[in-house]
Amino acid sequence: MKISLIAALGNGRELGKDNKMLWHIKEDFLHFKKTTMGHTLLMGRKTFESIGRPLPGRKTYILTRDQGYQRENCQTIHSINEGIELAREAGEEELFIAGGADVYKQTINKVDTMYLSFVDYVGVADAFFPEWNSEEWSEVESHEFKATDTSLGWRLVRLERI
Ligand SMILES: NC(=O)c1ccc[n+]([C@@H]2O[C@H](COP(=O)([O-])OP(=O)(O)OC[C@H]3O[C@@H](n4cnc5c(N)ncnc54)[C@H](OP(=O)(O)O)[C@@H]3O)[C@@H](O)[C@H]2O)c1
Repeated sequence: MKISLIAALGNGRELGKDNKMLWHIKEDFLHFKKTTMGHTLLMGRKTFESIGRPLPGRKTYILTRDQGYQRENCQTIHSINEGIELAREAGEEELFIAGGADVYKQTINKVDTMYLSFVDYVGVADAFFPEWNSEEWSEVESHEFKATDTSLGWRLVRLERI
């Protein structure tokens, strides 16, 4: 099973503020949907609550230390390794780490692929993507999306661990 990470980050690695996203880029949402459709998403409890529901067509694993936490049509997990093992046992081909900051930090060293959307955003945030060593990663795909009247510019990159 492949383990991938998917995230959108600003120029200063901003991810979110007050448990919300910082931008709404339709094409980036569509990219997230297309990339993750049919697969399993592993996310922190705060990210799940920010989204508020399981995303259709995908399995949702919610990571929490709360032993009583249950949400309809979601799987609660209490460690990252538990999530990885469950997905593997279920025959998942590609498990997606979907954030947030706390979960990315704990998983960046376990993933083979990172789908990163670099958004031309600078601003206040309270959640940040971890730093990574670019020498350990090779950029295998990149698409530039120019800013429009209604959207920030952004660049979609796929990185593979060397
Ligand atoms: N831009 C993006 O691509 C993107 C993607 C996702 C999220 N975000 C943003 O990121 C922010 C949320 O990130 P965050 O760091 O605050 O929270 P988070 O990573 O979504 O969730 C943190 C929670 O996960 C649980 N957890 C973490 N590590 C655990 C472990 N080892 N074992 C068991 N449970 C564990 C804990 O839940 P309990 O407290 O319940 O124990 C912890 O409070 C929001 O602003 C969101 O909008 C941005």
